[in-house]
Amino acid sequence: MLNIVILAAGLGKRMQSDLPKVLHTLAGKPMLAQVIDSARQLSPDRIIVVVGHGAEAVKKAFADQADIEYALQQPQYGTGHAVQQALPLLVGGDNPEDTTIVLYGDVPLVQPATLKRLLDARAGGMAVLTETLQDPTGYGRIVRNASGQVQSIVEHKDATAEEHKICEVNTGILAAPTAKLKDWLARINNNNAQGEYYLTDTIGLSVQDNIPVNAAQPDASWETLGVNSRVQQAQLERAWQAEQAQRLLTQGVTLADPARFDLRGTLECGRDVFIDVGCVFEGDVKLGDGVRVGPHCVLRNVTLGAGSQVEAFSHLEQATAAENTKIGPYARLRPGTELAAHAHVGNFVELKKTRLGEGSKANHLSYLGDAEIGERVNIGAGTITCNYDGVNKFKTIIEDDVFVGSDTQLVAPVTVKKGATLGAGTTLTKDAPADQLTLSRNRQTTIENWTRPVKKQD
Ligand code: UD1
Ligand code: CA
Repeated sequence: MLNIVILAAGLGKRMQSDLPKVLHTLAGKPMLAQVIDSARQLSPDRIIVVVGHGAEAVKKAFADQADIEYALQQPQYGTGHAVQQALPLLVGGDNPEDTTIVLYGDVPLVQPATLKRLLDARAGGMAVLTETLQDPTGYGRIVRNASGQVQSIVEHKDATAEEHKICEVNTGILAAPTAKLKDWLARINNNNAQGEYYLTDTIGLSVQDNIPVNAAQPDASWETLGVNSRVQQAQLERAWQAEQAQRLLTQGVTLADPARFDLRGTLECGRDVFIDVGCVFEGDVKLGDGVRVGPHCVLRNVTLGAGSQVEAFSHLEQATAAENTKIGPYARLRPGTELAAHAHVGNFVELKKTRLGEGSKANHLSYLGDAEIGERVNIGAGTITCNYDGVNKFKTIIEDDVFVGSDTQLVAPVTVKKGATLGAGTTLTKDAPADQLTLSRNRQTTIENWTRPVKKQD
């Protein structure tokens, strides 16, 4: 059985924020959510978050994840004390293989592959995740004996001058046999420089009990970087984004500038995709072969078919487009937008819960909401679906081959039948018949001999 305990009780004073530190985001997600997502990849039997500062806010942020359990640590007497608070919630222990992993809510990017390696290293003993740093200042040091066996961890503040020279440091992350961990945590004390109960003291106790301590290392050093300030948050964000950009470049995606690219979720790309500078991808985005995304676009939960092009400054959310669509510049696709193949959505056009059929075009200045639009339809500039009466939303149906003249209002519910033409400036309140010209317009008149009023000179 596997428990994962995530420590998240700390104050995070250096963030200078009212928001608990672990709720600050990294790659668009709260740091604690990143840790929980990685933890889930190991299919643990329990995920227990130790909360303290901002406990209620933290629990509220994860209210939709009912399986997560919480242990309250109030006040905070150190990392060992924090894990002690979670002990009553741990499962397993009868089997020596039962394991408890300790993670940190402010070390957001530790990857599942690294955690799996830590679990492998734990087999038959205990495992700590360590790293060798050029400047180990501040970290707990890994003390090994002459034959290289890990003996203990000594905190920076408790270390001797000789121990300060050790460059192998404790990342904080460890995997321990569950029953033993309970036993060791009952035996630690706070006789140290910080007057805290150190989780790291369990390493020495393990060695005393003849349980070997193995060390595993992360694949990348950014995986174990902690966030204590906004500066570190920004640095880690850049490290992660650089990593995402490298991965996409390696897969064959062109990024106009890998340093001006932000992915806050997942991005799947076909072959020969081009992404210009300053784009933000959120949620789950899929781009088909040959898709081009112009500069400064936001795509959130979007799927674009092969050959589609998004021009500069477009904002797309929960939208899907088939092949060879053209979107933007300055287009806004809101949730429920569906574009069929070869559809065009131009500048200052907003779509919401609307399907635009194959080859149909809305090229300028329109709002199309709750609408079903057929194939080969032309939507003139300034067309508005009046879908909302202040209380209810109504549908507009525009059938195939319709031509909607400029500056038309479609007062829903209303249907424009196949092949109909609507004259410019029409306010359509009743269905328009197929293949006819329908318009609502005052007749144009000219007043003869009219003169413009002239300002009197005084
Ligand atoms: C800890 C390790 C140190 C390691 C370093 C890596 C101990 C004693 N030391 O030191 O060996 O090199 O991490 O960054 O474990 N927390 C609680 N409750 C507490 C104290 C801490 O939940 O009572 C949480 C904090 O919110 C934080 C994490 O535990 O997420 C680490 O705490 P921190 O005080 O930063 O530990 P360090 O002194 O840096
Ligand atoms: Ca720390």
